[in-house]
Amino acid sequence: MKKVYITRRIPEAGIKLLQKQKGFKVEVSPHDRVLSKKEIIKKAKGCDALLSLLTDKIDGDILDGIGKQLKIVANYAVGFNNLDVKAAKKRKVMMSNAPGPEISQSVAEHAFGLLLSVAKRIPESDKYTRAGKYKGWAPMLFLGVDVHDKVLGIVGLGAIGRAVAHRAVKGMGMKVLYYDLKRDKAFEKKYGAKHASVKELLKKSDFVTLHVPLLPSTKHLIGAKELNSMKKTAFLINTSRGPVIDEKALVKALRAKKIAGAGLDVYEWEPKLAPGLAKLPNAVLTPHTASASIETRSAMSVTAAKNIIAALTGKKPPNLIK
Ligand code: GLV
Ligand code: GLV
Repeated sequence: MKKVYITRRIPEAGIKLLQKQKGFKVEVSPHDRVLSKKEIIKKAKGCDALLSLLTDKIDGDILDGIGKQLKIVANYAVGFNNLDVKAAKKRKVMMSNAPGPEISQSVAEHAFGLLLSVAKRIPESDKYTRAGKYKGWAPMLFLGVDVHDKVLGIVGLGAIGRAVAHRAVKGMGMKVLYYDLKRDKAFEKKYGAKHASVKELLKKSDFVTLHVPLLPSTKHLIGAKELNSMKKTAFLINTSRGPVIDEKALVKALRAKKIAGAGLDVYEWEPKLAPGLAKLPNAVLTPHTASASIETRSAMSVTAAKNIIAALTGKKPPNLIK
C-alpha cells in the first residue's frame, strides 16, 4: 500500500486521480484549516507522499517525523518558498510544485483585475454606490486613470509575467518594459517589449507588476528607496509573494502619495496586513486568491496528483524542483 496524505481538502479531480491508482491509500485532513507541525507529523507519519499547501511550512523536522519511506512532497502551488528544498535533498525526498498554463493565465487575469480595479477606482466607487451616496452623474466623480498606451513594467518574466504581457499588449494596448535575469529577444520582438534594469523600469513605468519567486535576493526587492523612485502617478501590483515588498514602506508611500496606488493579493505577514494598509482608499486588496478559479484549482490538484503518481511509480515527477 502506498499512503498519500493531503493536508487540507482541495478540489476533487486530483484526489480522485490518486484514489484510482492501484495500491494507493489516500487520506485527506478532515479539518478545513492549516495543520500545525505536530499535527502534520502525527497524521502523515508513515506516508509515501505528502500533498502540501503553501500555508504548510515543510522543513527537516517534518520530513524526519514522517519517516524514511517518504518519497515526495508535492506542493499545491506554483511558489515553493514554504518548502525546505535543501533539507529534502539531504534526505533524498523529492519535491514538486504545481505550475501550468491554467494557473499562469488565472494569475495574469487577477493581476489585471487588480490593475484595472485600482486604476479605475472600482472598489471605492462600488462601496460609495452601495452606500446610497450616488446622487447623480458628476463630471469630477471618481476620476481614475486610463490604462491604454501606458507603460507596464513587468518584474520577472516567467510564465505568469508573459501571460500578463500578452494581455497588456494585445488586450489593453500598453507598452511593456520587463526585467528578468535573462533577456528574451523573441519575446521582445513579439510584444515590442524592452528589457530594462529594475531601476530603469521603476522610473519609467506607469504600472509595475511583480512576478518573481520569493528568494533571499527578491525579499524587499521593493522598499522605500524603490517606491521613491517610481512616478507619483504609478501603481504597484503584487500577485507574487508578500515579502517581495517592504509592506510598511509601501503603506508609508501610499499614505504620502509617493505612488498613486497599489493592488495586492499577497502580504508580508499573511494573513496579517501591515498596520494602516486596510484603511487606505488607494489600495485594492484580495486574500491570496489570484489562482482561485474552479478550473485552475482543479488543474492544480491534478498536477500535484500526477507528480505524486510519478514519484510513487518510479518515474520522474514532471514538476520536480531541482
Ligand atoms: C499561489 O500563490 C501559488 O504559488 O500557487
Ligand atoms: C458618459 O456616460 C457619457 O456618455 O459620456
